[in-house]
Amino acid sequence: MSLTTDPAELVAWYAEMGITEALDDATHDHFAADEPASAAPRPRPTLPPRAGQAPALVARPNAAAATAPEDATVSARVLAREAATLDELKQALARFEGCALKATAKNLVFADGTPEGRVMIVGEAPGADEDRIGLPFVGRSGQLLDRMLAAIGLDRKTDVYIANLLPWRPPGNRTPTPQEVAICLPFIQRQIQLADPDILICIGGPSALGLLGLTGILASRGKWLEYDTGTRRIRAMATLHPAYLLRQPLQKRLAWRDMRALRAALDAAGSSEPGGTARVE
Ligand code: URA
Repeated sequence: MSLTTDPAELVAWYAEMGITEALDDATHDHFAADEPASAAPRPRPTLPPRAGQAPALVARPNAAAATAPEDATVSARVLAREAATLDELKQALARFEGCALKATAKNLVFADGTPEGRVMIVGEAPGADEDRIGLPFVGRSGQLLDRMLAAIGLDRKTDVYIANLLPWRPPGNRTPTPQEVAICLPFIQRQIQLADPDILICIGGPSALGLLGLTGILASRGKWLEYDTGTRRIRAMATLHPAYLLRQPLQKRLAWRDMRALRAALDAAGSSEPGGTARVE
């Protein structure tokens, strides 16, 4: 196998392999006591267990690696159920040590937009930009999502609530494993329940599968379904992921159909938002 010497190809290859951070020239002894605080592993606070609290998955380094996935799922369910508000849910996620993705992620990516919005959008997982900034859909695909929403008269900050199936970035943007999805599912389900939108839009295959049980996003997109939040039944639809649309721009016509269906559903239910007319570019 011959390795390329073209710097651009090398950088693209590194990115593909999940290497998104450059190292500096100096070598560091990460075990030395005087290593700068920023290089040390993030301290994880130990919280005393409360009566009736979930199994404690909150303190040990590498706790996720040492935790059986079933325990992590049970703990996630209990913690999610105990959260009475979105703020409490965010805090519960920040304490949760049952998902190994947390150890490699820079930030917890919880949500953006407004939980007052009638539409909740759930993507797959944060990418590099989202991980760095701590907000969902802020990179290139997020910018396309913003344009898709704007085309039907929706503003990302004031009209919709945006989250992801997983709140931590999988290294190298790999697809989350079924186990990671199962562990994090109770949190996003509770987030939907607490945000209580009228309409749920699942963006991309993993979100459509995890929340709506749909396989084959190209065949299942654009169809209205019911989603049971646990409190009430709301309308839900899967649509194509903007990252896919950036790679396959011709498929934007399908996404545009879905966006128009979303607009029509909002209008039919008495929205006062103006209908959009521009196409998604
Ligand atoms: N892709 C996603 O599914 N979510 C994000 O937040 C960013 C990219």
